Amino acid sequence: MAIKTIIEPFKIKSVEPIRWTTRADREKLLRQAHYNLFQVPARDILIDLLTDSGTGAMSTAQWAAMMEGDESYAGSSSFDRFRRGVQDIFGYRHVIPTHQGRAAERILFGVMCKKGDVVPNNSHFDTTRANIEFVGAEAVDLLIPEGYEPANRHPFKGNMDVAALEQLIARVGRERIPLVAKAVRDVCRRHEIPLYFDACRFAENAYFIKLREKGYESETPKEIAKEIFALGDGCTMSAKKDGLANIGGFLCTNDDQLAQQEKDLLILTEGYPTYGGLAGRDLEAIAVGLREALEEDYLRYRITSTAYLGNHIAAQRVPIVQPPGGHAIYVDARAFLPHIAPQQFPGVALAAELYLEGGIRSVEIGTLMFGDAAHMDLVRLAIPRRVYTQSHIDYVIEVVLEVWRQRERIHGLRLTHEAPFLRHFTARLEPL
Ligand SMILES: Cc1ncc(COP(=O)(O)O)c(C=O)c1O
Repeated sequence: MAIKTIIEPFKIKSVEPIRWTTRADREKLLRQAHYNLFQVPARDILIDLLTDSGTGAMSTAQWAAMMEGDESYAGSSSFDRFRRGVQDIFGYRHVIPTHQGRAAERILFGVMCKKGDVVPNNSHFDTTRANIEFVGAEAVDLLIPEGYEPANRHPFKGNMDVAALEQLIARVGRERIPLVAKAVRDVCRRHEIPLYFDACRFAENAYFIKLREKGYESETPKEIAKEIFALGDGCTMSAKKDGLANIGGFLCTNDDQLAQQEKDLLILTEGYPTYGGLAGRDLEAIAVGLREALEEDYLRYRITSTAYLGNHIAAQRVPIVQPPGGHAIYVDARAFLPHIAPQQFPGVALAAELYLEGGIRSVEIGTLMFGDAAHMDLVRLAIPRRVYTQSHIDYVIEVVLEVWRQRERIHGLRLTHEAPFLRHFTARLEPL
């Protein structure tokens, strides 16, 4: 086709106003929030790129399906539709609904892990790591070295280092590894270790395989997703991402005995296994959302529009993690602000400046979040699904470039208050 412009593959039926503030307002709001954007009220944010989790817009088909919600406590027909929708893509024997991803993690690791165990992963998300550590096990990141180099354009920087996995198994012993999360099936099969996926962005990742891995060009995203999940023994899922829902998640397994234990624990903390902490209408929205997330028109727009943001700022030499991701663009704050030492939180300083300049909320993923264990200082611009249009993104590009021009004027910060764990949510800071 001669036309190159990729448009949003939807039209807008219901709108939600966003509100401008003045720079003076934002200076005051930021001071009141102790320079922590989690503490700024959402009504004072113009463009909210804090997270892509639970912030997407639902389709007319999802809203219509919600009216079919069967709110029966046990045996809800919404659960049947939910299970069919999940199994059609994921293929696992048991589907256990949960209120969100971390509840699935809590149950999975609660049942499979014990004190002294070791769980290898490519890289653990913070709630995944916290749930593994909560049962006294150790979460080990085995990311390929390219994954730690922001400018490196390796097409799959989330890959697990297979040789490092073999070395870990040899070092700690098979008995201490109850499961591996993600990738590397051959090694797992050889050692008889179950393989579980964190499936939360499965559709975007399937599309990247279609775009970047030879041999998959003519497969559909659904065919690729099915092939991935067929390699594993189960998964955890936050339906707040590629489930295109505002709340929800699930846990899948092929193991009958584990499923029984998981359902017993589910009843204790989430609810009966045909609703698992969700309303029938939420199950309906997820069943439809999973299908919509795999539509090629949607994925082409999703991946292209995120790359549009990344490529436009990178073209002006703004340092970003390359290549652009699916759900977010990560700005390399250490390279953006080389005059600010990691201990003075360059990511927090940059996020604060994006808010001051244009009312944009982003999130630091670096020294404030991980302390001395941080490998990088990044600012994540996460794009909610189907929420913002190209003109919103053009505005974000302008703001980022304006801050880039003024970068030498930006100062670091120091902590004035920190909680004993997950300190980034409530930390207080002040400019140096
Ligand atoms: C990779 C990954 N895993 C797990 C989770 C946890 O999901 P939830 O926030 O639904 O508990 C998230 C959420 O952001 C995530 O990004």
